[in-house]
Amino acid sequence: MALTIFNSAEATQAFGEGWAAGLVGGEVFALHGVLGAGKTQLVKGLARGLGYTGDVTSPTFTIVHEYQGGRLPLYHLDLYRIQNEKDFIDIGLEEYIPSNGVTIIEWPERIASILPPDTQHWELEVASLTERVIRKKA
Ligand SMILES: Nc1ncnc2c1ncn2[C@@H]1O[C@H](COP(=O)(O)OP(=O)(O)OP(=O)(O)O)[C@@H](O)[C@H]1O
Ligand SMILES: [Mg+2]
Repeated sequence: MALTIFNSAEATQAFGEGWAAGLVGGEVFALHGVLGAGKTQLVKGLARGLGYTGDVTSPTFTIVHEYQGGRLPLYHLDLYRIQNEKDFIDIGLEEYIPSNGVTIIEWPERIASILPPDTQHWELEVASLTERVIRKKA
């Protein structure tokens, strides 16, 4: 599947939900896309797929949210507010790449040079008010 259009936030969530099957821990997902592209919607779905039943909200100010209680812990990082790899390491976030669970990162460009080589990169594009194009980046 090279490129898919999702017509609602729920459809985007369902796609993220499908990522959960087969994860064993240690995976790192990098979500590329502008503000409002739907990155956090994918995280909501992934959390649900892992069996997490609570609310999933954007870690805009705290940078990281941890979701425990599912099949694997999920760590959701939003790096919009940090500048670079030095900030990331200074704040003490290195333990998340990789983690003992699943790590999913918004604004991964901020730390491009230190992402693990097997990071799964995804690109989200806004096609219209309600449509998002999601593709796996090579
Ligand atoms: N097809 C769609 N897929 C995902 N989100 C959609 C879609 N159509 C509309 N939306 C809306 O777009 C917004 C996406 O917001 P979301 O918080 O997921 O973006 P984000 O990429 O995480 O942005 P940020 O970088 O600001 O965190 C939501 O308000 C959602 O309801
Ligand atoms: Mg977000």
